[in-house]
Amino acid sequence: MTEPKKLFVKTYGCQMNVYDSERMAEALGASGYVPTDRADDADMILLNTCHIREKAAEKVYSELGRFKPLKAAKPDLKIGVAGCVAQAEGEEIMRRQPMVDLVVGPQTYHRLPEMERAVRAGARAVDTEFPPEDKFAHLPRGPRARRAPAAFLTVQEGCDKFCSFCVVPYTRGAEVSRPAERVLAEARDLVDRGVREITLLGQNVNAYHGAGEDGSEWSLARLIDALAAIDGLARIRFTTSHPNDMRDDLIGAFATQPKLMPYLHLPVQAGSDRILKRMNRKHTAESYIRLIERLRAARPDLLLSGDFIVGFPGETEADFEDTLALVRTVGYGQAYSFKYSPRPGTPAAERADMVDDAVASDRLARLQALLTEQQRAAQAAMVGREASVLFEKPGRMPGQMVGKSEYLQAVHVTAPQIAAGEIARVRIVEAAPNSLAGALV
Ligand code: 5AD
Ligand code: SF4
Repeated sequence: MTEPKKLFVKTYGCQMNVYDSERMAEALGASGYVPTDRADDADMILLNTCHIREKAAEKVYSELGRFKPLKAAKPDLKIGVAGCVAQAEGEEIMRRQPMVDLVVGPQTYHRLPEMERAVRAGARAVDTEFPPEDKFAHLPRGPRARRAPAAFLTVQEGCDKFCSFCVVPYTRGAEVSRPAERVLAEARDLVDRGVREITLLGQNVNAYHGAGEDGSEWSLARLIDALAAIDGLARIRFTTSHPNDMRDDLIGAFATQPKLMPYLHLPVQAGSDRILKRMNRKHTAESYIRLIERLRAARPDLLLSGDFIVGFPGETEADFEDTLALVRTVGYGQAYSFKYSPRPGTPAAERADMVDDAVASDRLARLQALLTEQQRAAQAAMVGREASVLFEKPGRMPGQMVGKSEYLQAVHVTAPQIAAGEIARVRIVEAAPNSLAGALV
């Protein structure tokens, strides 16, 4: 019997890349690959890359450089680049890094098995098309392994919003929603394999408008209701959303759908209308705040998370203070903040009025101090309260189990009798910045 070949996948960036990496591993599983977590043990290395911020391509080239000794020791080792840098750079990767055997974009990885065969036969393979067929419908399926209790499921891909700073509409392409029935079938399969919580993924997930079985278009709220009817599925989340696609039925779902968890990632990016306009966000600070009020009216305990960019071209101190003011008004339980980085090919990258780097760094530090303070307050507010925890795995201490609260906070409990996949009520007794400790009720 021949030894199975080993696949090492390294994932950068967003949760959709995590999902895509799993799908790529499954597709290559059908070609006889088993996963390994050691690059030096692998027969194939795949980097699933991210292009969203700063020097993404440079980082990939330097990471590739580090595989040189591995390839020298094992000439049969195949090296592939996938994801958004692959999409953006394409052939250029082959030119700059002769060691790379395979370049595959986010929309063509269902073709990996044929690409792998070509590469094994000595060819170099590049595929960064936006093909007409649905990759999910053409993905080879590997062995149906048992899954961890919380899983991602892509329902929508691509973006038509064209925020002026963002590469996503170029790397992931136009907005496409998967048909509802396919999503439901994948969800049922996940639940059969032990999944209890599904996070629906999309670059603009709340713009979901997939074909329903009856030929009508389903909104995300309708899809969530249909998913909630699956026995054994206990929790549903979705990410990432754009404020302008937050429809009434989806807001209502936070009040009416008990399986929809009270956590929402709703990026605003900035708090100054002048900057929001330059960002082509098509909403104002005020309209965002009104939307948050409606969401909180539907679900008073909703925990909000956001993304922020500081130092967008032309941002003044007054604009930045508007961002701080918006953060104070909204109150975030979780947040991601970044210094603006010009991305090649985006409209904002053409602007001449760049903010001085030291000024942008200073603003980032000030914003992060405020966001950290809010996150700590949200954690501390949990002490003394009860949370519902989906346990995912054993913790570091003997007898300890860790899981997530309904608000996506990590919670650890000493409870050797609890198994992964169980949901239990926990009284929170202690809060740290990134985790909570509690006891079973
Ligand atoms: N510079 C800095 N941050 C960016 N993001 C997207 N593009 C850029 C950029 N050019 C941030 C946004 C987005 C998150 C995923 O990454 O805040 O919501
Ligand atoms: Fe990028 Fe804006 Fe689309 Fe989000 S909504 S993926 S920031 S273009």
